[in-house]
Amino acid sequence: KKRIVSGVQPTGSIHLGNYLGAIKNWIDLQNTYETLFFIVDLHAITLPYDTQELSKATKDTAALYLACGVDTSKASVFVQSHVRAHVELMWLLSSATPIGWLNKMIQFKEKSRKAGDENVGVALLTYPVLMASDILLYQSDFVPVGDDQKQHLELTRELAERINYLYGGRKWKKLGGRGGSIFKVPEPLIPPTGARVMSLTDGLSKMSKSAPSDQSRINLLDPKDVIANKIRRCKTDSFPGLEFDNPGRPECNNLLSVYQLLTGKTKQEVAEECHDMSWGTFKPLLTDALVDHLHPIQVRYAEIMSDSTYLDNILAEGASKAATIADDTLNNVYQAMGFLQR
Ligand code: TYM
Repeated sequence: KKRIVSGVQPTGSIHLGNYLGAIKNWIDLQNTYETLFFIVDLHAITLPYDTQELSKATKDTAALYLACGVDTSKASVFVQSHVRAHVELMWLLSSATPIGWLNKMIQFKEKSRKAGDENVGVALLTYPVLMASDILLYQSDFVPVGDDQKQHLELTRELAERINYLYGGRKWKKLGGRGGSIFKVPEPLIPPTGARVMSLTDGLSKMSKSAPSDQSRINLLDPKDVIANKIRRCKTDSFPGLEFDNPGRPECNNLLSVYQLLTGKTKQEVAEECHDMSWGTFKPLLTDALVDHLHPIQVRYAEIMSDSTYLDNILAEGASKAATIADDTLNNVYQAMGFLQR
């Protein structure tokens, strides 16, 4: 079976962008592929964070994975920091990562510009190397993510090829290794719709956990009245009718796409249904679609959180399965790079 890995940071609350861009797509993939889904807590400390919140947010995120439909009889779910190999491989990878590659990363440039040099930890720069480690450790074939992770995936691919070139190949075979490549070169899986869910208050910027206004996003755990209020107040325009793909109407395209994904209709169906609608007619429809979709997730979330040992057991089991695969890769890398074996 081909293997898939992916993860979400336990910072802030999980929103509709995380769900439609990533998590929702995991649910179908787990039936066809071997899947590992982690909560990337080590990534969550690259910007200032609250130590009181980290472990709670980590559990919350795990519970939401399950509530959204990740099925632990098929997928392994675990916490990144519980599998030590992630950090260890990161060090080995970082020795072969040119600083220039990291300086080019858009997310690093944006986040460091906002925070200022004196406030930016080195980990914000090396963040993509840790992400590469998350992926390469499991010899992953595919990585389902939203559009904003494309550049990190590209770096992961280049890094895998570089390590394979530097330490793999014939040299590696002579040392008695498995031969061939050390890492599989993974491919991103970016959904055709939903890969970039936009802010409710500005159709030109993406929905994000770090945006100051909570009005800009729908969180998966938002109650019904909060959702209704956010949709009532979200940014629209004053053109007649509703349509996809009009560059002058980014909010319209975004809200129709969200509606399409939540209802499972085709783009064509939604385009026809909404062609002559006013915002006043569409907004309650969208609110209902959101509430109908999120309510069962919220109910399951509450059930899972009410039995905390259940979740702890799932995470322990996931970590031990993951560690077996990860340690195997890590040992190979040490060997290929010429370290003395224990
Ligand atoms: P994170 O936590 O920022 O986001 C988690 C997932 O949600 C997607 N996403 C979106 N998709 C559509 N529209 C949006 N507005 C939107 N906002 C976020 C992201 O693309 C992502 O798929 N570095 C990663 C986490 C990570 C990871 C990994 C992912 C660490 N190691 C290994 C895959 C494989 C991140 O910060 O995602």
